Amino acid sequence: MSKPKSNNAKTISVALTLCLVCSVLVSAVAVGLKPAQVENARLDRNKNILVAAGMYDAQSDTADDVAERFKDFNVEIVDLSKGNYLDDDALKVAGIPDRNAYDASQATKNKALSEDLGSNDPAGIGRVPKYAKVYVKNDNAGKPEMVVLPIQGYGLWGTIYGFLTLESDMNTIKGISFYEHKETPGLGARIEEPEWRAKWSGIHSYDENGNVATGVTKAGTPKDNWVDGISGATLTGRGVSNMIQFWLGEQGYKPYLDMLREESGQTIDNAQANQSTLTAEPKTELAATLPVANGKEA
Ligand SMILES: Cc1cc2nc3c(=O)[nH]c(=O)nc-3n(C[C@H](O)[C@H](O)[C@H](O)COP(=O)(O)O)c2cc1C
Repeated sequence: MSKPKSNNAKTISVALTLCLVCSVLVSAVAVGLKPAQVENARLDRNKNILVAAGMYDAQSDTADDVAERFKDFNVEIVDLSKGNYLDDDALKVAGIPDRNAYDASQATKNKALSEDLGSNDPAGIGRVPKYAKVYVKNDNAGKPEMVVLPIQGYGLWGTIYGFLTLESDMNTIKGISFYEHKETPGLGARIEEPEWRAKWSGIHSYDENGNVATGVTKAGTPKDNWVDGISGATLTGRGVSNMIQFWLGEQGYKPYLDMLREESGQTIDNAQANQSTLTAEPKTELAATLPVANGKEA
């Protein structure tokens, strides 16, 4: 009877040793891969900023192209309630040591860096960061040619993250991209498709009174200046609509965009913007938006 007992002990000790070795191996691999994962996430985010800016060609662009083109953007931290940029001193006071490393989504987990939206939360995000990270591309004269704004909001199955780009009038939408969501492939996930995203280009964000005047309709119910929803994905479309209206509104980027418009002496003039959209040459998505920076194609 003593023999089986010692066999059992042996089996258990071999199993435990194997478990220990495996867990050490898995942990080592996880720790070893972490930097590569962080770098890949950063590259993917930068790629999606370029997608929203119309500066990415999925067929030919490499990681090096993304890195090179991304250099055209200045990273700025905006005080959302006031609309101004935070300089280095203000960043220190705000508790943001590094503007590039700042993550506004993470900031919503920090009570000092975010505010509870309570019941006034159309985008379903719970808390809004006090400071947002935006990406600004200036023209040769040093004036904003476009701004890429991070947006997020609840779809049908979870939070959708994306970027919205506005042209220099801080009203006309240049492009949009979505890089993380839980929507269903073939239904809500179609928001990622270039064909649907292209519908946003040239849309005006605000009416003449400065009110947000765009969103997503139910498929097949066209509305001037709104984007036709995806058939069978009305709920995702509603989520996208809510998030865009939230982020362009007073609790989002509106104070900032008003400030940029004021600084450049612009008012919302949809008639003029309409005219330039109507007379523009039809172009491919990339060619239409590739800017000439510092005398060379960016
Ligand atoms: C398994 C499953 C997944 C679904 N995924 C989505 C989705 O990702 N987005 C969405 O808006 N609707 C989704 N729906 C459909 C919604 O329940 C709803 O019917 C739809 O949004 C209504 O859109 P419609 O009015 O255009 O038909 C899904 C339904 C099922 C059964």
